[in-house]
Amino acid sequence: MALLPILRFPDPRLRTVAKPVEQVDDALRALIDDMFETMYAEPGIGLAATQVDRHLRLIVMDVSDDKSNKKVLINPELVASSGSQLCKEGCLSVPTVFVEVKRAETVTVRALDREGQPYEFTASGLEAVCVQHEIDHLDGRVFVDYMTPLKREMAMKKLAKLARAEQD
Ligand code: NI
Repeated sequence: MALLPILRFPDPRLRTVAKPVEQVDDALRALIDDMFETMYAEPGIGLAATQVDRHLRLIVMDVSDDKSNKKVLINPELVASSGSQLCKEGCLSVPTVFVEVKRAETVTVRALDREGQPYEFTASGLEAVCVQHEIDHLDGRVFVDYMTPLKREMAMKKLAKLARAEQD
């Protein structure tokens, strides 16, 4: 397994629309394992393949505190959503920035699992937020897109400052 470098906003590659996975094979499972390792190391609760510069419709997530709720979503589709919630979101590609985003409260998702088998699950609360945030990544959207221009400008300054500090 290996830790993968995470693309950082405003890297234009984060705007790539990911392509459907055509084959769930050992190479894809190796990527899935690396993505979990990378996500847990950060730590984060979700990671889209887009963020590690692999433009496939693949998400790993785990909103638990003890690695007990691992989910692999290959070619995920939202089949139903209801309600709304406001949640303060963060993103491994946009460190130090947190934004309140309005999302559906409950979503039903259809996807393939690690073995390529179709399954469906319904998520609510934080897990529903995570699914919607990660599917956005696959479509080339980043949560800062939901910010007002002024707040986005402030966030950009914060990120630039962080990048400079990391170079020193
Ligand atoms: Ni994100």
